[in-house]
Amino acid sequence: MKLKSVRALWMAGALLAVCPWVGMAGSVWDKLTPAVAGPLEITVYRSPSCGCCGQWLEHMTKQGFHVNDMPTEDMDAIKRKFGVAPKLASCHTAFINGYVIEGHVPAGDVKKLLQEKPAVAGLTVPGMVSGSPGMEMGGKKAPFTVLSFDKDGNATPFSEYSSY
Ligand code: CU
Ligand code: CU
Repeated sequence: MKLKSVRALWMAGALLAVCPWVGMAGSVWDKLTPAVAGPLEITVYRSPSCGCCGQWLEHMTKQGFHVNDMPTEDMDAIKRKFGVAPKLASCHTAFINGYVIEGHVPAGDVKKLLQEKPAVAGLTVPGMVSGSPGMEMGGKKAPFTVLSFDKDGNATPFSEYSSY
């Protein structure tokens, strides 16, 4: 084995040790086609040490978003400041065109949001769902619902992923 690949293996192992949910490359989420043109500039606050957040950034980049990456150690402060209630919270918090995008929301839903422009504060996938974009764990795909939410923390289903 070449030294380079040994090193790559070691690094992958180290990453997995830190963040066991680091997914496989080339997931089902990468096959989505871009739905909207125009400004797809997204600002993402995330913990610099979280692998799944990095994977979600990759997913968004592949889907045509320009990611403004803002690593921060105090995600709680960000969530408090932007009104993401604990029950709606996930790992990273992103902003696009005045909307909050919380957690592992598929890029397709963000595009749908930008197209339909509903009067909501944003979208969230609370928690960390196995199989959601950035949370691919081998073949494990848990069903999940993308919720829209308002400033008071009231949530409504925005889209369902029962099988994917
Ligand atoms: Cu995550
Ligand atoms: Cu994250």
